[in-house]
Amino acid sequence: MASQNVMDKVVSLCKRRGFVFQSSEIYGGLASIWDYGPLGIALKNNLANYWWREMTQLHDNIVGLDASILMHPQVWKASGHVDGFVDPLVDCKNCKARFKAQDLIKQWKNKKKLAAISDGEIEEGREGDLTELGKVRWQEAACPSCGTSGNLTSPRLFNLMLKTFLGPVEESAAVVYLRPETAQGIYVNYLNVLNTSRMKLPFGIAQIGKAFRNEITPGNFIFRTREFEQMEMQFFVRPEEGTEWLAKWRDKRFEYYKKLGIREEKLRLHQHTPQELAHYAEDAYDIEYEFPFGWQEIEGIHNRTSFDLKRHQEFSGKELSYMDEESKERFTPFIIETSSGLNRTLLTCLVDGYYEDTQDGEARTVLRLSPAIAPIKAGVFSLVKKDGLPEIADQLANDLRRVGTVFTDHSGSIGRRYRRMDEVGTPWGITVDYQTKEDLTVTLRDRDSLEQSRVTIAELPAMIAAKIASA
Ligand code: GLY
Repeated sequence: MASQNVMDKVVSLCKRRGFVFQSSEIYGGLASIWDYGPLGIALKNNLANYWWREMTQLHDNIVGLDASILMHPQVWKASGHVDGFVDPLVDCKNCKARFKAQDLIKQWKNKKKLAAISDGEIEEGREGDLTELGKVRWQEAACPSCGTSGNLTSPRLFNLMLKTFLGPVEESAAVVYLRPETAQGIYVNYLNVLNTSRMKLPFGIAQIGKAFRNEITPGNFIFRTREFEQMEMQFFVRPEEGTEWLAKWRDKRFEYYKKLGIREEKLRLHQHTPQELAHYAEDAYDIEYEFPFGWQEIEGIHNRTSFDLKRHQEFSGKELSYMDEESKERFTPFIIETSSGLNRTLLTCLVDGYYEDTQDGEARTVLRLSPAIAPIKAGVFSLVKKDGLPEIADQLANDLRRVGTVFTDHSGSIGRRYRRMDEVGTPWGITVDYQTKEDLTVTLRDRDSLEQSRVTIAELPAMIAAKIASA
């Protein structure tokens, strides 16, 4: 299957089966904003729970937090986002198209057109690096959209934070930002958590929540959107242990994606070059996945040093250092951050799990989702819609609901019913037939191996629960 084809098929499957819809679709949609349908929200919740369990339940030194989206505007001055979270943009005065300056340089480099519009060869640079952008003679270049020359402006800085107003008056004093990362909610609550949970270094605070960025080039379905959900964990360590903990969390997080069932050959690590590092990071790695549209970041692991806590200390005037009771030392901890996107992880699972084959002469589409995150755990069917079989199936489905979401369907060909479940990633199909009435056994069919076995109704809930728990 051609890879772009897979993307188109996943997008179409998401709409057809109720995973993802375009926002405000009846009004023509809102660009790059998406809503999650019944199966999409089930998958997203399962993924969020999987991450939450991994981070908080399975680590006795990580606790949770849920901070607000709106924060004091000073937070974003201290964090560096007001000054540093910017993209240089270029406008075309003729067709009004707007471009990221860095994207244009990339395009021109690919087409070997750069020499004609710059004073020399330009090195690959950090996004937002104005020295590099200053070398281009923008006013002489052609607009990639309308093709006219001489209409592009010089790059101008554009802040990626979305603004709104608190209170009834739209004045500058009331400006607040929709948070561009959840991390800052953790930093400003670090003392609250420390004092109330009696944590000692090293310890972490985990949070899942929405973040907003006014991206200039959103796209690739739910990959890059202006409203998205982050799953971030901030791990507080002694400064001299920062490098060691960055490596530990990088490796742990890489293993996590393998455990989630993502194919290892589609995953890789990328260490940031000095030009790529965010303004707060000393060292960083991306975990990348090979999407149909290329290798892209699905999680960032950063050594943010003591940058954020020191800045908040400076701006708030509050002491944010840590007292080590044993050594009697006082210092500002370093922070190792693991930052992943919930929507991106969801897209990764869909793309990686998408699979087509032919069974009994019929085309089959499968989502190979881990049972831990599959929105529906089992389809429960009665072979025929008579002779008391649907009643037995419904009773079994009710028993299984305590274990996970199940779906019942008692009409149509059994092959078609299995295939509809395969397409949404349901790991097991369970069929009640005439033999069930004699020996209380049912057929259990596995989505991936297609193996069918007879199991007793009595043992089924515990068996399915064990399979989900071990996934
Ligand atoms: N907190 C890191 C990020 O949002 O990329």
